[in-house]
Amino acid sequence: MEKHFEELIQQVKIALIDADNDHQLNNIKSSFLGKKSELMNMMKKLGSLSADERPRVGKQLNLTKQKMESLIQQRAHEIEKLKYDRTIQAESIDLTMPGLQPQIGGLHPLTQTQRKIEDIFITLGFDIVEGNEIEDEYHNFDALNTPPNHPARNEMDTFYIKRLQDDSNNRLLLRSQTSTVQVRIMENNQPPIKIISIGRCYRNDKPDRSHSPFFHQVEGLCVNDNTTFADLRDILSYFATMMFGNDIEWRFRPHFFPFTEPSAEFDIRCFSCKGAGCSICKQSGWLEIGGAGMVDPNVFDAVGIDSERFTGYAFGLGIDRITLLKYRLPDIRILFENDVRFLKQLC
Ligand code: PHE
Repeated sequence: MEKHFEELIQQVKIALIDADNDHQLNNIKSSFLGKKSELMNMMKKLGSLSADERPRVGKQLNLTKQKMESLIQQRAHEIEKLKYDRTIQAESIDLTMPGLQPQIGGLHPLTQTQRKIEDIFITLGFDIVEGNEIEDEYHNFDALNTPPNHPARNEMDTFYIKRLQDDSNNRLLLRSQTSTVQVRIMENNQPPIKIISIGRCYRNDKPDRSHSPFFHQVEGLCVNDNTTFADLRDILSYFATMMFGNDIEWRFRPHFFPFTEPSAEFDIRCFSCKGAGCSICKQSGWLEIGGAGMVDPNVFDAVGIDSERFTGYAFGLGIDRITLLKYRLPDIRILFENDVRFLKQLC
């Protein structure tokens, strides 16, 4: 009999060796200690034993049961520990592993150009002012001495904002040039005035490699009692050198703007053919980056500045154009597509 108890204990020990989860442990518990287990059967049969055998066998049975229970309990503790170790291992972080490299952002090429332009003009004593992208016909055309029948006013060229019940003859529009800021500043300030303003403009242009329905300009305006065309020349010459380098060649080309007289276009030597003529500069050897001139007296009259006493120069340069030239980019649209592969190279 004793030998049999010993065997049962051995069987439990062997079964427990392979048990490594709660489910297996519960199965072992019910097959060795449950109602239908051999041990329980033996307990049920205790009553049929003789009176002097019963206490001895009963004691043995109890001892065996306790031993089995404590073996199972011990294994339960071990499994608990095993579970804990597994969780720790699965969730642990190896602090010695190299981390994920964070993606570092940068400034868009247009923003870089804008900041460079601002730096250049700040050192020359210009203030930076902001303008509105939504303007009216008066500030975009009339005050800038643009006649009512000027082609730029056409809806084919300028985006008008249609308002319900709009009976005014001063329609709202998306400004087609930053020259609107000249008017706003001169309406509210008397000379000396020395400002630049950078911002977005809109024209009804079909997008292609050199056109976009929106683009960016820097407007400059300097009004004083002795400002001359030579000052304009010096400022733009200095700007070109600072922007494109010492050996940059530039020129003024006579032109017409309603709001400046005399007027000129400002050209830079073609970076591609260096003047020999190529497809980028349309065989001219030059690339246009903006317009400039002396403020027309009619503009002074419109804004309430004494045109007998004051003179001034103004210029408007294309920031997108400057950026294309600076980075030798073939197509303006690349600046607005936000292709990360392109931006990564220049940001
Ligand atoms: N506003 C003009 C344009 O958009 C440029 C310009 C600005 C010309 C100031 C002269 C003076 O083409």
